[in-house]
Amino acid sequence: MFSRYKKPTGEPVAPVQRPAPAQGAAKPAAQPAPSASAPPPAAKLATQPASRPPQQPAQAAPADRDKKRKERLSDIKVELHKRLLDTLNLAALEHAAESELRAEIAAIASEALEEMSVVLNREERATLIQDLYHEVTGLGPLETLLKDDEISDILINGPHNIFVEKKGKLTQSDVTFKDEKHLLRIIDKIVSAVGRRVDESNPYVDARLADGSRFNAMVPPVAVDGSLVSIRKFKKDKLGIRDLMSFGAFSEDMAEYLEAAVACRLNVIVSGGTGSGKTTTLNALSSFIDNSERILTIEDTAELQLQQVHVGRMESKPPNVEGKGAVTQRDCLRNALRMRPDRIIVGETRGEEVIDMLQAMNTGHDGSMTTIHANSARDGISRLENMVAMAGIEMPLKAVRSQIASAVNLIVQASRLQDGSRRMVSITEITGMEGDVISMQELFRFQRLGLEPDGKIIGKFTATGVRSHYSTRFKQWGYDLPASIFEPSVSL
Ligand SMILES: Nc1ncnc2c1ncn2[C@@H]1O[C@H](COP(=O)(O)OP(=O)(O)OP(=O)(O)O)[C@@H](O)[C@H]1O
Ligand SMILES: [Mg+2]
Repeated sequence: MFSRYKKPTGEPVAPVQRPAPAQGAAKPAAQPAPSASAPPPAAKLATQPASRPPQQPAQAAPADRDKKRKERLSDIKVELHKRLLDTLNLAALEHAAESELRAEIAAIASEALEEMSVVLNREERATLIQDLYHEVTGLGPLETLLKDDEISDILINGPHNIFVEKKGKLTQSDVTFKDEKHLLRIIDKIVSAVGRRVDESNPYVDARLADGSRFNAMVPPVAVDGSLVSIRKFKKDKLGIRDLMSFGAFSEDMAEYLEAAVACRLNVIVSGGTGSGKTTTLNALSSFIDNSERILTIEDTAELQLQQVHVGRMESKPPNVEGKGAVTQRDCLRNALRMRPDRIIVGETRGEEVIDMLQAMNTGHDGSMTTIHANSARDGISRLENMVAMAGIEMPLKAVRSQIASAVNLIVQASRLQDGSRRMVSITEITGMEGDVISMQELFRFQRLGLEPDGKIIGKFTATGVRSHYSTRFKQWGYDLPASIFEPSVSL
């Protein structure tokens, strides 16, 4: 047990933990014999007895020292966590008040630290107790990242590489897991809390955390260098139209047009790449829906937060361990049609549910919305065609296209640009069929004009000069959009 803390040969760090003398708990045989390959400690954390050799003369660089101090703290934490699990009555934990539990942890930790002859300064002790509290009650190192409201995504590539996204920028976090076992333990804790399992025979899982965050994990051996985890954090206050406009996601004219389009019940598809802001855009667009309408939402992971009162939310369900009990988005959608919806919103159309979505859009559920994974409006149409083909529907391509052309009115293209900003780069209307081809017209776009020295993209939203195909409908519904919003503001 003691050898766990033995640093690799040559590393000038001593074990942080020393078993209490004559306790009988630690097996002396497992202790590393003092040798030249295990030099004496340069430890600051542990108080060394007088009999120990003096500190090594060579002073490590501050960064190096910092790293080693962290490693030692991490070792101490692992040991203390083990002790806590042995000592604490886990069943009683569930009902314990936070302050009570913290006090209990602090007391057990103090005792153990004393036993291990480890002395920490006040700050280290506070951090340690906080971390232990998170280990015992929550998700260990992930807790701080989950609590940080600035972080929108957490991406873990094995225990030592955690990346976080803040304000559209991905950076490596200095938070790490002790090792793969530690990471796996936390993954297991997360997925078992939502009644799922992940192991070698079932190496990936997609789930929703208790706070609404989206969670995906893939574990070895499929994940080659350690478990891969992606967490899309749940934003308590979803970005609204005004927020998105203030971030430069689209222009006021575009917002005005979109309001009319949604209110007049055009069928809208938000298309975009991974993390481009599709769900956020869909959610913001939904705010234009009238409060009197009955809306049903269907998602694989419930992320949408609609403001209306009359909303029914559905979430698909994966099969259980025996492969039974799955409820797909398609099942939900078929059932939704019997639930008298005014509008249906499917979080993301990615498979066979496309058939029912198109049918719903074509049969009286105008104003339905969904997102798809595609890089342009044209690409989005091809995606829809492919999905129909893959759903095993034997239909001539022209028939599929005409079904799409009459179902979909509008494609909003979201994009995450290279500077990390997310913008609505294009709004395109589907106007019908010309021969075998679906005809469409772009109304608004983000025109790139250059690049600032710091890599920020310079650009402007502009109309293309094309008038909306749905102008008459807008007028009939009481939305008299001024012609000026369709006039280009930059030369195209
Ligand atoms: N215009 C924006 N400005 C700043 N942040 C944004 C913007 N749009 C979305 N975000 C943030 O980007 C993250 C990803 O957004 P969202 O979940 O909407 O993307 P997505 O395209 O649906 O992703 P996925 O493909 O994984 O489903 C979220 O944290 C969201 O809050
Ligand atoms: Mg999404």
